[in-house]
Amino acid sequence: ATGPAFDTDCMTLTRFLLAEQRKFPKATGDLTQLMNAILTAVKGITAAVRKAGIARLYGISGHQNVTGDQVKKLDVLSNDMFINMLRSSFTTCLMVSEENETVIEVDSEKQGKYIICLQALDGSSNIDCLASIGTIFAFLKEVSTGPATLKDALQPGNAIVAAGYALYGSATIMVLSTGNGVNAFMLDPTIGEFILTERNIRVKPRGKIYSINEGYANVWYDPVTDYINSKKFPKDGSKPYSARYVGSMVADVHRTLVYGGMFAYPATKDAPKGKLRLLYECNPMAFIMEQAGGLATTGTMRVLDIVPDHIHQRAPIFLGSRDDINDVIECFRKYE
Ligand code: AHG
Repeated sequence: ATGPAFDTDCMTLTRFLLAEQRKFPKATGDLTQLMNAILTAVKGITAAVRKAGIARLYGISGHQNVTGDQVKKLDVLSNDMFINMLRSSFTTCLMVSEENETVIEVDSEKQGKYIICLQALDGSSNIDCLASIGTIFAFLKEVSTGPATLKDALQPGNAIVAAGYALYGSATIMVLSTGNGVNAFMLDPTIGEFILTERNIRVKPRGKIYSINEGYANVWYDPVTDYINSKKFPKDGSKPYSARYVGSMVADVHRTLVYGGMFAYPATKDAPKGKLRLLYECNPMAFIMEQAGGLATTGTMRVLDIVPDHIHQRAPIFLGSRDDINDVIECFRKYE
């Protein structure tokens, strides 16, 4: 390659948002400020995931923390960092986090207009084997006129202003949508900046991969069994789909976005609402997928149209390529 050795004019995420903001004369810059708080936490988590500074924590031969201190678990540490960064960004009034049972209210002198729904570290069962993990978030705007209340947090996904995720994979990537398509920014650790690497991502109309925990096949409902069988034993002589399942939603959704196909965490006879949480797992991912031209359904309705009644409620989800998700919906229709 003969390109320039050093990009002196790179498009960072912050620069990208500042440019976007200019398109809306009334914009205050709060979203940019809020995203900067998120980016700081994502960089911190990246460092922890990559075990930067591990020498400080472990003795020469390995497993003991040299000082004998209890090492804070990565998911707790990540959540603390996010909450602290967000609280002090002066842009939020309410936060919903997987780690906190009730909504987190921000002190009135630090309040802003955004409500944040957050899964600081998703896929935590993958931490010990060093498989990919991620962060998922969505921003809503306060609707009440007085102080923010629970009602502000319980808005349907179709009210989302911006949503995204960070994937701590072989690289750290931030995928973000402010309701105007989806863009991806890769973390360049040498300068600590997120650089625009993929503009206006579109998910393929059809993929070749299905992604579901097949270990639970005995508790699936019929539409799910029918759908998966149709991909494994195609009746028209076409090639069967490949199976891929990391068990880390961000990794499975990101692969679906990039390669196409279908990711699901369905309702089962054991778990009639599925496993994944609506506010900070299903909704942000459904928003991203739709913004990229894909779909997200519970099987019988659009995920983003669910009106929540509890901040930690679960929802079944099938998301991905348009034609693949339409096949899922078709299977459910047959049983109506
Ligand atoms: P956890 O944080 O406990 O590892 O849960 C991960 C979530 C989500 O990221 C993933 O898609 C799903 O749970 C996997 O659940 P199963 O193990 O039931 O397939």
